[in-house]
Amino acid sequence: MTDLASLVNGKHVLITGGLGMIGSTLAQKLVPLGAKVTLVDACIDPYGANFFNIENIRSQLTVNIADIRDKEAMKWLVRGQDIIFNLAGQVSHNDSIENPFLDADINYLGHLNVVENMRKFNPHAVVVFSGSRLQFGRIEYNPVDEKHPLNPRTPYALNKTAAENLYKFYFEMYEIPCVVFRIANPYGPRSQMKHSKYCMINWFLRLAMENKTISIFGDGEQMRDYIYVEDLADALLLAAVTPACHGEVFNVGSGTGARFKEMVETLVSIVGQGKVQSVPWPKDYVNVETGDYITNIHKLQDAIDWKPRTDLRSGIQHTFDYYQRHRAHYW
Ligand SMILES: NC(=O)c1ccc[n+]([C@@H]2O[C@H](COP(=O)([O-])OP(=O)(O)OC[C@H]3O[C@@H](n4cnc5c(N)ncnc54)[C@H](O)[C@@H]3O)[C@@H](O)[C@H]2O)c1
Repeated sequence: MTDLASLVNGKHVLITGGLGMIGSTLAQKLVPLGAKVTLVDACIDPYGANFFNIENIRSQLTVNIADIRDKEAMKWLVRGQDIIFNLAGQVSHNDSIENPFLDADINYLGHLNVVENMRKFNPHAVVVFSGSRLQFGRIEYNPVDEKHPLNPRTPYALNKTAAENLYKFYFEMYEIPCVVFRIANPYGPRSQMKHSKYCMINWFLRLAMENKTISIFGDGEQMRDYIYVEDLADALLLAAVTPACHGEVFNVGSGTGARFKEMVETLVSIVGQGKVQSVPWPKDYVNVETGDYITNIHKLQDAIDWKPRTDLRSGIQHTFDYYQRHRAHYW
């Protein structure tokens, strides 16, 4: 088993988007391992920045409210870091259709700003990028491996793909060690719970906790790969400290698929309330629907000592427990 403490103890780690779900989960793992963690977050509405996500470790890390698009700020912030998890992002693919300029600005130009400053001021740090399964567009076969064609169907997916190529370019041209991930559907504690723009399970959990109606599009047979955020953060962390992963692209998910209606039934049974209705696919969703998606995690598992430990039922249960305890900080 990889001895993470010996690999990250005393290391300087920068996490952009660090007050959000994935970034703060990483911080929760890194601080007890002895890493010197700095979080960068612009706290942009309606994304998931929440100081409560790090309340228990607030005195053991540094928080810098800054925007990854800010050239002057990032010039200083990248210096002296050993690992940079560059997770800041516009996360809603539907919003990217409404406002493609904002999406390109954050998800492409913001990331260019970080890697360009790394090239100038800190080219030896490892940088980890969080792309999306949406980069694949319509799914041609399952489980989806890294060789599956990329056919982005929204500006979000397009800009994530452009950013992925950006990291690969900086690795090939300037040897900046990067690890690129294409993430399936993450969920779990510390996600925003205010809207349905991303993290579907979390939103449905809120609806069920308020005994409201959850709408299933179409017959509910569509299959997705839901990954619990703790398992996801473990994979990101292990890949960052594994030199064989540098310069590589990995698909990351649970490696198993669940039908949409099965996910909703599980969730409602755990919460013990919530109504379910079937509705026709809304037009704007039909256009971007990818078809069933299951992640092939073989390449990742060959590279790091990792396996998803949390099945869907336990993951939803842990998530429910978390929001029952801390509802006031997320509603
Ligand atoms: N949640 C998902 O469904 C999902 C799926 C695949 C990939 N990802 C990617 O993972 C990353 C983290 O997502 P998350 O789920 O933790 O979402 P999140 O909304 O919880 O966290 C994103 C954080 O980035 C911050 N941010 C946004 N723009 C910024 C900017 N310009 N400068 C600095 N900070 C900024 C937000 O304030 C927020 O705290 C994102 O890049 C996202 O695209 C997320």
